[in-house]
Amino acid sequence: MTKTTPPVICLDGPSGVGKGTICLAVAKKLGWHILDSGSLYRITALQVSRDFPDQPVDSLDTAKLAEIAKNLNVTYEENNGELAILLDGEDITQQIRNEQIGAKASQIAAIPEVREALLARQRAFLVAPGLVADGRDMGTVVFPQAVLKIYLTATPQERAQRRYKQLKEKGIDANLSALVEELRLRDDRDMNRKTAPLKPASDAIIIDTSSLNIEQVTNKVMQLVSQRVV
Ligand code: C5P
Repeated sequence: MTKTTPPVICLDGPSGVGKGTICLAVAKKLGWHILDSGSLYRITALQVSRDFPDQPVDSLDTAKLAEIAKNLNVTYEENNGELAILLDGEDITQQIRNEQIGAKASQIAAIPEVREALLARQRAFLVAPGLVADGRDMGTVVFPQAVLKIYLTATPQERAQRRYKQLKEKGIDANLSALVEELRLRDDRDMNRKTAPLKPASDAIIIDTSSLNIEQVTNKVMQLVSQRVV
């Protein structure tokens, strides 16, 4: 890394902890770019379900999956802090947000060849004036040189409750105990995989968001940014 490499802030943590929302808010305040790394695993999952409908991930060839990840024709359109994701020109922003794709993404994300295939694409997001990156391994693997690494956590019950509220507000029927169970399963898979497991980087600052709202978490992150970054 040279001195002229733009700065990167990493926000890692488990599913449903609010990383995406905080990432957008912080990037907007700083006027920096964002990387929603989970979306790359979700888009890969979507493409895999299109190419191999109804086939379980563990029945598929890992080299083939890595090839799909490497060749995704994806573009991100950032407009005033809002993000639109296009796959082969089709807007798939909403399509990748369901729990089925999330679960498939976490299975695909456990495959080392897929992670390797997405590495260069993630690093290419780091351009001036800077990047706020959210995911599971931003601080541990993708951007070990980051100026600030934050690990957000909250209990599975609290994360499920937030998700439940979001779904209800959208008029979508949801079952709270099923959401807790889905989160536990995804945490378990993300934390216990061999390659790039979800864990705080040794130099990460941990923020427990269980009793904080979005504004309070954003303010805490911005305090750290002003102490350490800008
Ligand atoms: O963050 P999001 O829920 O969109 O991520 C979907 C899945 O992609 C996660 O459950 C995780 O398995 C995987 N992921 C990952 N590494 C990242 C981001 C996401 O393994 N940096």
